[in-house]
Amino acid sequence: MKLTGPFTQILTLAGLPLKGAIADDQLQIIPNGGVLTENGLIVEIGEFEQLRKDHPKAEIEEITGDHVLLPGFIDCHTHLCFAGNRSKDYALRIAGKSYLEIAKSGGGIWDSVAQTRQAGKDELAGLLTDRANRHLADGVTTIEVKTGYGLSVEQELKQLRAISLAAQSCLVDLIPTCLAAHIMPRDFSGPPSGYLEYILNYLLPKVKNENLGNRVDIFIEVSAFGASDATHYLRAARQQGFDVTVHADQFTTGGSEVAVEVGALSADHLEASTEKEIKGLAASDTVAVALPGASLGLGIGFAPARQLLDAGACLAVASDWNPGSAPMGDLLMQASILSAYEKLTTAETFAALTYRAAKALNLTDRGTLQKGTLADMQAYPCKDYREILYHQGKMKPAIVWKDGNTIA
Ligand code: NIG
Ligand code: FE
Repeated sequence: MKLTGPFTQILTLAGLPLKGAIADDQLQIIPNGGVLTENGLIVEIGEFEQLRKDHPKAEIEEITGDHVLLPGFIDCHTHLCFAGNRSKDYALRIAGKSYLEIAKSGGGIWDSVAQTRQAGKDELAGLLTDRANRHLADGVTTIEVKTGYGLSVEQELKQLRAISLAAQSCLVDLIPTCLAAHIMPRDFSGPPSGYLEYILNYLLPKVKNENLGNRVDIFIEVSAFGASDATHYLRAARQQGFDVTVHADQFTTGGSEVAVEVGALSADHLEASTEKEIKGLAASDTVAVALPGASLGLGIGFAPARQLLDAGACLAVASDWNPGSAPMGDLLMQASILSAYEKLTTAETFAALTYRAAKALNLTDRGTLQKGTLADMQAYPCKDYREILYHQGKMKPAIVWKDGNTIA
């Protein structure tokens, strides 16, 4: 057993509601706190001196100077498995061209497909590992990773195998999601419904057999897949035993309604959601995931995060880190900026990065610091938790723990 502390404050994020608004005075704060861990799990959490007296044999991991401890962040939406970059798209965008115009003229997602198809599995795993380790150093201890730059059975399998390979060497937990339904591949002859059938029949059974993931995503959008094809696809994927999630309401509405209807774990993006979609999400168990990094990368408005919370939805925030719409990848910076513009409380912002993001991934063992949860933690070099968002992402954790072990 190991006793880590003392921490000036511990924010446990425990005991808070799963859905709706949260005031800062609802946060559980333990002053002069300590955490007792064993085999990667939290055994007890409380006042440091008391824990030291109660467990005289515990090894002490002493923390010197002021630190505020939080659960590790959970990034529940990324596209981190890619090769190359799309800096040319970005330059065109800041010169005034739209995401869709750029996609039509040879850039966009298809360009990343071309670059990723050329990379081998080991190369992709290496690129992914580097990015995941950068995230881990910033306090992100669980990362969802989508495919979607393969768009054929073999190429999607290569991406999933690269994620699985990277997961073996990374300390951070990688949660794979099959996004073979990202856009229509240009080299598939047949309608979108035919492509989705091909994925259902020839890819998803292999994903199950090889144990490469249990999540499926689809991009519902005018430029990608329609609502009725997507509904059929997601229902069939669920029947095969997959959890499902949706890229929804990014430019036009329709996606979040499908997500709610099929019982998706989450509906992500939501920049275009109106009152109707907000109500639908709030009445459901589907987590609403805001992706401020995509708004910043595209120069468009943010998802209506404040309205979603006020209506009673469960709001998570993720980075969407990808080579096209969200190349920056700094989750805390993005969440801080979103909170400033959307007027999210500190409690709502941290909830969105921890236990509410865990819900989007259907994970119940993390996202709070309490007896029995994973010892995935991060300590910021400050006295008061409010200093963290105040620095808008510039203050990074001084120490990060994954499964109770410190990350060098
Ligand atoms: O979440 N919207 C669709 N997919 C990604 C972008 C991927 C890309 O541009 O490469 C997103 O923003
Ligand atoms: Fe995305």
